[in-house]
Amino acid sequence: APFKIGYFVGSLATGSINRVLANALIKLAPEDLKFSEIPIRDLPLYSYDYDADFPAEGRALKEAIESSDGILFVSPEYNRSIPGALKNAIDWGSRPWGTNSFARKPTGIIGASPGSIGTAVMQSSMRSVLSFLDAPQLNAPEAYIQYKPDAFDDDGELRDEGTAKFLRHYIEEYSAFVARVLAANAPGHI
Ligand code: FNR
Repeated sequence: APFKIGYFVGSLATGSINRVLANALIKLAPEDLKFSEIPIRDLPLYSYDYDADFPAEGRALKEAIESSDGILFVSPEYNRSIPGALKNAIDWGSRPWGTNSFARKPTGIIGASPGSIGTAVMQSSMRSVLSFLDAPQLNAPEAYIQYKPDAFDDDGELRDEGTAKFLRHYIEEYSAFVARVLAANAPGHI
């Protein structure tokens, strides 16, 4: 059966290299993965004051997470951590208390940076957050992408066959991981 994958782009920038990466990854993915972006741009800054009367943007976000089979985070690293806009979205999805939308959702984390460690520190921060939220994570392969502009053509398609091959491998492994977690989550499975 096809899997519905909701993806977050952790950048609000018009020229986001992580959006370029997300688009390239989607083009390389197996056909049984159906991707839709979960937007984060219009979310207010979260406070628990909202819990009593959750706004439409927050409800839409939780619904988008809950109706996805798997969640993929494609994000930059800001100041060696998770960009504020993405962390804010995760905080929204985790609340109100007792309704954490990420629980048991299979997740993957990938990111690109012009720097040579390719978002590794952000990804490490994300793993702590997702562990706390009881979200299973694809442990391997890890995907730290150093962004080189000439690796992508004007349509965002990958010119560099080595990177394309790696990303294809990553997304195939992610797909297999989603299948395993869904099977483990199924009623009757111990
Ligand atoms: C950065 N950048 C950056 N890069 C990195 O590898 N590690 C880091 O800690 C940071 N910190 C950081 C903070 C802030 C506030 C900005 C704006 C940028 C550089 C960053 O990788 C680069 O701007 C990318 O283009 C960001 O990805 P998007 O937004 O283009 O997808």
